Amino acid sequence: MLKAIHVTKKFGELVAVNDLSFDVEKGQIFGIAGPNGAGKSTVYNLITGFFPFDGAIEFEGRNISGMPTHRIAQLGISRTFQIPRTFPSLTVEKSVGVGSRFGDPGGFDRNYVDRIIDFMGLEAVRRETTGQLNLLGKKKLMIGAALATRPKLLMLDEPMAGSNTSEIKSLMHLIQAINTDLGVTIIIIEHFMKVLTELTGTLLIIQTGTKLCCGDPREVTSDPRVIESYLGEAYADGIPS
Ligand SMILES: Nc1ncnc2c1ncn2[C@@H]1O[C@H](COP(=O)(O)OP(=O)(O)OP(=O)(O)O)[C@@H](O)[C@H]1O
Ligand SMILES: [Mg+2]
Repeated sequence: MLKAIHVTKKFGELVAVNDLSFDVEKGQIFGIAGPNGAGKSTVYNLITGFFPFDGAIEFEGRNISGMPTHRIAQLGISRTFQIPRTFPSLTVEKSVGVGSRFGDPGGFDRNYVDRIIDFMGLEAVRRETTGQLNLLGKKKLMIGAALATRPKLLMLDEPMAGSNTSEIKSLMHLIQAINTDLGVTIIIIEHFMKVLTELTGTLLIIQTGTKLCCGDPREVTSDPRVIESYLGEAYADGIPS
């Protein structure tokens, strides 16, 4: 569904993404992990058309490299950001409505907005302004607004960051349901290995912009190269939580 082909991105002297190739299959949950500054978020920025780059990115067989962001969104790719971004003075329902309008130039579909609000468990707070929401609420809203564009591919950037155990469980359940019940293919960047091994079918580890290894998450997290360079010796005996 999504193919990165020899993608390289330099910011001046810094090579943020270095000759990176990977393939995301339709229907799967695909994980990306790696140390801070490895280039994970930059990969999303390249997929969503923020910067020019070398190499190519294909979506459903079409080369989307160099396309403007709104065109890429209309083809069916949506994302969330590492730091929750909401419109603080808009209500929850209006914010999800903005996503709906952005995804469909023909207007917005109230029934679909209602369905997403319900699906994300935001019904009780739908008339509250987003600035009043707690962190979990903001995260659910950001995912809901991304879903309202009716994406085929949803890309989540560290959705669990700053969350406690019960919030992580709730988000994992939602992410799984988005994949299974709504049929949306998902890429998730995450530092929690347990989340990645439970949710994903394929896990890509990036280090200094380069692919370190990619495959079955349990095999990847027990790969000595990954343990040594990313997970650390402390995790050598098992999968960290
Ligand atoms: N717009 C930019 N201009 C200059 N350098 C950038 C830009 N965006 C990212 N970088 C640099 O590229 C490298 C990769 O950054 P990126 O944000 O992709 O890392 P990351 O893997 O998402 O890290 P983290 O886990 O901390 O979120 C870093 O060295 C970062 O400073
Ligand atoms: Mg990042």
